[in-house]
Amino acid sequence: MNILLIGSGGREHGLAWKLAQSLSTKKLYAAPGNPGIAEEAQVVALDVSDHTAVVEFCKTNAIDLVVIGPEAPLVDGLADSLEWAGVPAFGPSAKAAQLEGSKGFTKDLCARANIPTGGYVRTHSLSEATEALTKFSAPYVLKADGLAAGKGVVIAANLEEAEAALADMFDGAFGDAGAQVVIEEFLEGEEASFFAITDGTHVLPFGTAQDHKQVGEGDVGLNTGGMGAYSPAPVLTEELQQRVLDEIIQPTVDSMRAEGTPYSGVLYAGLMLTASGPQLIEYNCRFGDPECQVLMTRFEGDLAALMLACAKGELAGQKANFAPETALTVVMCANGYPGTPEKGGRVDLGDAEANGAKVFHAGTTMKDGQLVANGGRVLNVTASGANVTEAKAAAYEAVAKVDFPSGFYRSDIGWKEVAREGS
Ligand code: AMP
Ligand code: GLY
Repeated sequence: MNILLIGSGGREHGLAWKLAQSLSTKKLYAAPGNPGIAEEAQVVALDVSDHTAVVEFCKTNAIDLVVIGPEAPLVDGLADSLEWAGVPAFGPSAKAAQLEGSKGFTKDLCARANIPTGGYVRTHSLSEATEALTKFSAPYVLKADGLAAGKGVVIAANLEEAEAALADMFDGAFGDAGAQVVIEEFLEGEEASFFAITDGTHVLPFGTAQDHKQVGEGDVGLNTGGMGAYSPAPVLTEELQQRVLDEIIQPTVDSMRAEGTPYSGVLYAGLMLTASGPQLIEYNCRFGDPECQVLMTRFEGDLAALMLACAKGELAGQKANFAPETALTVVMCANGYPGTPEKGGRVDLGDAEANGAKVFHAGTTMKDGQLVANGGRVLNVTASGANVTEAKAAAYEAVAKVDFPSGFYRSDIGWKEVAREGS
């Protein structure tokens, strides 16, 4: 089949790499792509916010499947535009993508379907929100309702900080995303991610991972899009995975279908493993970045065929197999990230891939024949091993071969699991 992949980050390089390996892929296009994706696919200049142009491209190039990587085009209804034009798309409709696009929507759904998650209040004004704080205790969890590029969550240590953050939010700190704010109960435990693929009815578990969201070693400092990840996440035991499927994922898919907004695509559940069991922190309607890169490293099979089955509602009886090894990725960032990253810094990969590692490109571009940084997260250096300790050693061996003078990375990705493995 002919495939068009939408996106330009490390996640999409991971997807492009696996789609290019799929036996059922004939021709792979990517828009807008990046230099790493360009090694796997024909990169095309296409304004992905112009749905008519995307549909026209699909018709002209006999595209059989569009894979939509990032959340913004999903929330913007690209999958709907493709469906109306008769082009199968991997990714949910705009209405279903509200699971990521509106925190309040998801919380209400959880309440209706009795899905375990923290208590919450949806607020629409500063006075309403300030009043609602009295129902909670510190630390306060405040979330801009809409998409805020992963930055719309504030955990305030005390009432004063919470009030100040609410004032900022209703003052437009997160733009329209903050016109509504969800205040929720603080959940205690360890975080882990669970992925599932669904065609709106059938659910196929698609692996587990743990990310490292904070910029500093030991999980301190500002939140980022993710500084490194590994898969599988041993904390999500078989038993816990079954609970997540039964108590969280399947009821969500069933409710979405029953309510007339069937969800198809990948459902990425951010979980807190609390003393009373897994609770939903948030849903994403896309693969995690960089979690996707470690899932793709382990996935064995024809990704293109699986995604098409999903898009066509034919997931029943399909399987998803993963290599038993652990994959671990280290995100190399440009100095300044997660603030304003330095652009244009030279990046040389050397022989980083020599020992079976894979370097996925996130924010890179070519300038006068030289690979340079073009974003906050620049590379995802990924390797496998028998467990997290070994995968970590292999990944950092590859990182050491990359020459990126204006970049930095965390050197402790996997630390919690490494400590458990060593004990
Ligand atoms: P989110 O963007 O919803 O994933 O939130 C960003 C981060 O905030 C999460 O990865 C958690 O570390 C933290 N967080 C969000 N919601 C809660 C909660 N209810 N309790 C504790 N921590 C939370
Ligand atoms: N790495 C976290 C995310 O993709 O949301």
